[in-house]
Amino acid sequence: MKKTPITIAATLVAATIVTACATGGAPSAANVEKLADSMVKSAFRAEGIATTDRVTAIDETLKECNAADAAGKPLDPAVAKRLEAANLKTVKWPSDGKFLGDWKAGEKLAQSGRGMTWTDKSTKTADNGGNCYNCHQIAKEEISFGTIGPSLYNYGKMRGVSDPNSAAAKPIVEYTWGKIWNAKAYNACSNMPRAGHAGILDEQQIRNIVALLLDPQSPVNK
Ligand code: HEC
Repeated sequence: MKKTPITIAATLVAATIVTACATGGAPSAANVEKLADSMVKSAFRAEGIATTDRVTAIDETLKECNAADAAGKPLDPAVAKRLEAANLKTVKWPSDGKFLGDWKAGEKLAQSGRGMTWTDKSTKTADNGGNCYNCHQIAKEEISFGTIGPSLYNYGKMRGVSDPNSAAAKPIVEYTWGKIWNAKAYNACSNMPRAGHAGILDEQQIRNIVALLLDPQSPVNK
């Protein structure tokens, strides 16, 4: 029989069950993990620009969070701290020191969920959207939004940002940039995609989205 990924996975299932029966107990955690890993790998195939490294090349942060999830326990606080620090180090701060771009362009990006699927031809960040409304309420005018993340309506106003260029606003401006660049820098097991870190959005796109959240002229802060 030709060894496709599915038959390899099936062989592994059989081997795990045989071992479990022979030892008279449940399969070991290591075996179950190996099995789950091979099933995940065999269930995905590369198609167009969507390659399987998304499933196979997971970093330490995802590994630790997945393991904690599988164990049904929150991540150890010391591990979480270490991972957050490592993720914070990956944040690229704006090369020209300008954190805010054009909120109108930011709104378009926040609305767009395009990019990175197998039907897309381009791998350029410029052709991707931020997909923010899929998880967040943002401007009040848009009534279609997801609720996985907290509402970002009045994001800047609620945090007292009346002049994003002021020294007083600096911590919140930097946090907002960092959060969008790499959400796990502040919450190791965040469900929010790491837009800058994962190469979904580029610097200028993040500037525009930061403006959407923090520009006093943005509908978000009206
Ligand atoms: C898959 C869902 C998802 C997507 C997509 C998503 N987020 Fe989030 N976001 C979350 C979740 C969940 C939280 C809260 C937990 C946390 O802090 O990580 C969050 C938190 C945030 C926060 C911090 C809020 C605070 O009060 O500190 C900001 C800012 C934010 N998101 C902005 C964005 C922007 C901008 C986008 C689009 C580029 C985006 N998010 C896309 C799920 C998402």
